[in-house]
Amino acid sequence: MSAENYYRDTWAEVELSHIAFNIKQLKQRLRPDTGIYAVVKANAYGHGDIQVAKKALDAGAERLAVALLDEALKLREAGLTAPILVMGWTRPEDAVIAAEHDIAVTVFQEEWLESLPDLKKPLRLHMKWDTGMGRIGIRSTDEMDRLLAGIKQHEKLKLEAVFTHFATADENDTFYYNEQVKRFDQMAAYLKANWPDEVEMHTGNSAASMRFPEQMKHFVRFGISMYGLYPSPDVKEEQPIDLKPVLSLHSRLVHVKKVNPGDSLSYGATYQAKKEEWIGTIPIGYADGWIRKLQGFEVLVDGKKHPIVGRICMDQCMIKLDKEYSLGSQVTLIGKQGNEKVHTDDVAGYLETINYEVPCMLGRRIPRMYLENGHKVEVENSL
Ligand SMILES: Cc1ncc(COP(=O)(O)O)c(C=O)c1O
Repeated sequence: MSAENYYRDTWAEVELSHIAFNIKQLKQRLRPDTGIYAVVKANAYGHGDIQVAKKALDAGAERLAVALLDEALKLREAGLTAPILVMGWTRPEDAVIAAEHDIAVTVFQEEWLESLPDLKKPLRLHMKWDTGMGRIGIRSTDEMDRLLAGIKQHEKLKLEAVFTHFATADENDTFYYNEQVKRFDQMAAYLKANWPDEVEMHTGNSAASMRFPEQMKHFVRFGISMYGLYPSPDVKEEQPIDLKPVLSLHSRLVHVKKVNPGDSLSYGATYQAKKEEWIGTIPIGYADGWIRKLQGFEVLVDGKKHPIVGRICMDQCMIKLDKEYSLGSQVTLIGKQGNEKVHTDDVAGYLETINYEVPCMLGRRIPRMYLENGHKVEVENSL
């Protein structure tokens, strides 16, 4: 169900103008003949796929990339007509649906081609080359020969592109990245010599496209950095382009109380006040993706950091306040308040994970409020 409104005091803000800003920064660095796939898989890394896809296309991305056919179909149902690529595995029997909706799919297995059903419409294929990621893709020219022969046999199939994915493009040490580039270029030379048609190529993710723009092929696949986050601490330090974070996360104090020394809080009664303390309750918990490991993490009230105390519950958690605040005071869990900020990277660091995981974790229960230069343009409550 999608509603225009929501009735809880926790929400994520998605500043769409920052999507456009981040794409423009990248575009200025890329060669003019390199296009952009906006990577909007996983509900646009938790930001909202339809809204982000529309904005990215407006801002200069030419195409969309997702992981699953279901994600691509959702974009088509929303009326998006731009070229879409499914980068992951699609079942051969579902190729009919992909073709019907003009969605390009990824191919890397001979058996896949052999088990394709009859297609009424043309199907665009992108052949995946595993140059070192070790996930999906062909690894040799023998496999390429067999796939090319299989493609030739189906008149409805068109080899639109070949692509690969880098495992270490976000690291200072570029040895392995360069090895992957070399393998790709060798396979590309083989393809050129053995296939009559022009075939597009795309290799770079955010890290490669920002760091080595001159090495990019016909397209890049721009994911994490479109959302204003650097792919790794190394790239953040190098800062090849300026980025503006797109997502912030907010809540409000829904209960404020003074507790006495020795009073305990939350499940397990593990937190005990040492003296009189002001405690605020906010309506966000692990069912929203604000997981229990975030106990102790500091969030912002009144432009100051305040720690989460006691165990995080399913729908609520408590914070220790430096003084009494009125009910309804805004709490910023990710984003800026006054001169202070909590960055998604801070949450990732606290959780000992990567920033990619943080917006992906935020649950459907959290409404997404879309902004353009600070002005609300839409609210999506997908609960
Ligand atoms: C095949 C592929 N291409 C591109 C991307 C985008 O990468 P990034 O978010 O680092 O830009 C991903 C994301 O994981 C991916 O799996």
